[in-house]
Amino acid sequence: MCAAPLLHRMPQVLDRRLALDLAQITERCAVAAARLRGRGDEQAADLAAMSSCYRELNGTPVSGTVVIGEGVEGETEHLFVGETFGAGGDKVDLAVDALEGSTLCAKNMEGSISVLAMAEAGSLLKVPPVYMEKLAIGPGYPEGIVSLSRSPEENVRSLAEAKGVPTSEITALILDRPRHAPLIEAVRKTGAAIKLITDGDVAGIIHTTNPDESGVDIYLGLGGAAEGVLAAAALRCIGGQMQGRLVLDTEKKREQAKALGIRDGAKIYHLEEIVRGDCLVSATGVTDGALLKGVRFGRDVIETDTIVLRAATGTVRRITTEHRDFRKFRIEG
Ligand code: FBP
Repeated sequence: MCAAPLLHRMPQVLDRRLALDLAQITERCAVAAARLRGRGDEQAADLAAMSSCYRELNGTPVSGTVVIGEGVEGETEHLFVGETFGAGGDKVDLAVDALEGSTLCAKNMEGSISVLAMAEAGSLLKVPPVYMEKLAIGPGYPEGIVSLSRSPEENVRSLAEAKGVPTSEITALILDRPRHAPLIEAVRKTGAAIKLITDGDVAGIIHTTNPDESGVDIYLGLGGAAEGVLAAAALRCIGGQMQGRLVLDTEKKREQAKALGIRDGAKIYHLEEIVRGDCLVSATGVTDGALLKGVRFGRDVIETDTIVLRAATGTVRRITTEHRDFRKFRIEG
């Protein structure tokens, strides 16, 4: 994974030692969800990951508030937007998806992860439960070579030019959804290749940061706005460019956005506006995927694969953990 140069880093606000706390949290969420891999029950897997996450978060030495969570108060028992957590300490914001790609987990397909981002208080964009139009490319390109204000064709051509390759050597990652048929057609017209994924656009966007390994140059399309914030936090750490525009196509969604202080519903948010300060991101594989291996259950050991990212320094840590004390994974009611 190639991180952006240090010159572009932001001042450190978060204690670096939180990185290990976050890794332990996503590890436990991932193990809880992985026990339910392939059972065809998204909700049960989601709930297991969520409960595990909530339990672990409360021991973290911060005074946190959930900004991007699993729903609104009353709709979900834990991790609702506005819920506070932590054992006390610096004020932080949290964006969490205890199980990103719940369908992938339920079907035991590649690419589900547990992911969270902790950021300095007040620095995460608050978004309603709507889609976000997303565009992302990896680090190393001049600012502004792609933009949501341009057509997908223009973006692919501009990226190819900046990379110094023909468009036929560009690969775009897109969620496989009927709503993306016109987008897919437009990208194909440029001669670029398309890699389709059934779910999991947080990992999808992270893939753009390492095109040599992932084979993905650009991410395009509509996915969850909450996942957009999580992906943006990861790119703040690793580098790269991302833009997002909320899809507020009903009165209700516009009202929800307004209630969060969003006055311009058509605004294109740049990476620095989605995550405005220091942050840490941790993600652990639930099922095997190109970014992370899934949880392995052995007789005496459980193995997890985690990536922890730090915006202040651009540090990317890969943590393979062998867990031998299974008590910490006990399932509580
Ligand atoms: P969940 O884990 O909440 O099911 O999200 C999976 C996901 O694929 C996200 O990665 C993506 O942003 C979103 O769903 C796309 O939404 P939809 O399935 O409605 O197209």
